[in-house]
Amino acid sequence: MEMQEELRRIQQEAAGELEKIADKPGLEDIRLRMLGKKGQLTQLLRSMSKLPPEERPKAGQMINAVRQKLTEQMDELEASLRRKEQERALEREIIDITEPREHTHYGTKHPLSLIEDKMISIFTSMGFDVVEGPEVELDLFNFELLNIPKNHPARDAQDTFYIEDNIVLRTQTSGVQAHTMLERKPPIRIICPGRVYRADEVDATHSPVFHQLEGLVIDKDVTMADLKGTLDIFAQSLFGEDVTTRFRPSFFPFTEPSAEVDLTCMACHGKGCRVCKGTGWIEVLGAGMVNPKVLEMCGIDSSVYGGFAFGIGIERIAMLHYGITDMRLLYEGDVRFLSQFRED
Ligand code: DAH
Repeated sequence: MEMQEELRRIQQEAAGELEKIADKPGLEDIRLRMLGKKGQLTQLLRSMSKLPPEERPKAGQMINAVRQKLTEQMDELEASLRRKEQERALEREIIDITEPREHTHYGTKHPLSLIEDKMISIFTSMGFDVVEGPEVELDLFNFELLNIPKNHPARDAQDTFYIEDNIVLRTQTSGVQAHTMLERKPPIRIICPGRVYRADEVDATHSPVFHQLEGLVIDKDVTMADLKGTLDIFAQSLFGEDVTTRFRPSFFPFTEPSAEVDLTCMACHGKGCRVCKGTGWIEVLGAGMVNPKVLEMCGIDSSVYGGFAFGIGIERIAMLHYGITDMRLLYEGDVRFLSQFRED
C-alpha cells in the first residue's frame, strides 16, 4: 500500500511539474528526475526487493504502468514544445511580400546587339543560315581567296594588324564567304555577323574595331535582281515600307559587277536634308555578283553556279536606326547612354 501511495505521489508531482514546463531543457530535467538512473521511479523499482516475493509482480506492473504513462506524457509534451517552437520560428521568419524592396537595376542589351539581332532575324526569316568565322585570320581567306593578291592596291583601303606575315586580324567578314564555299556545296545562303579590325584612327565615324554582317548566296540562276530584292526586304523590314535601295556602280575585287548601295534617307524620306547632305540617299553597304574568279578559287564551278554577296556595317545601321551621330558612344560603355535602348 505504501508503494501505491508513493506511486500516486510521484505521478501527481510529475503532472504538476509537467504543466509548468515551457521548454525542452525543463522537460529533460524532469525526465531525468523521474525516469533517469537515479530517478524517483527507478529508485522505487529497485526498492521492490524489499517487498515480499508474492507482491513483487503486481508492484512491478504498477510501476511500469506509471512509467509508461509518464513517458507518453513527456513525449507528447516534447512534440507540442517542438510544434510551438516551429510556429514561433515561422512567425519570426515571415516575409511581408507587400513591403517595397530596393530597386533592381536590370542591364539592357547593347544597341549594337539589338541591331545585330534584328538583322539576323530579318535574314534568317528569308532562309539564310548564320555562320561564324575566325577574327584572327589567314591572309589567304581575308585577301587572297577574295581576289586581293599580295601587293594589290585594294589592300591599301584595309590596312590592318598583322599577327604574323600571313596572319591578320580580319578586316572584313568577307573571308567567311571563302571558308563557307570551301566547306559547303551550293546552294549556299549564309550571313556572317562579326567583329572586324582596321588600322584606323578613332573618330565620330571610325573605329579600329567594328562589326559587319556579310551575306552570300550561291545557286544556279541567281541574278542581280535577287540581290536587289533581298536588300530591299532587309531595308524595309528595318527602316519601313517607304525605304528603297539605290545601286551605284563601284569596285570590289571579289564581286563583278559591284555596287555601293544607298537607302532612302530615313530622316527626310528622300526629300533631302542635313543627314543625307541634301541627296535623299544614304550610303550603307557594299554588294555585288560574286566574281567567277572567287568561285573557282573556292572550288565552285562558275559555269554552273553564280551568286551575290553583300557586306553591311552594323555600326552604320545602328547609328542610322537610332539617330546616333558619334560612333564612339557605342564603345564607351556609359550606362546613361546605353540604358536608353531597349528591345521593342
Ligand atoms: N567587305 C567589304 C568591306 O569591308 C564590304 C563588301 C562589299 C562585302 C561587297 C561584300 C561585297 O560581300 O560583295 O568594305
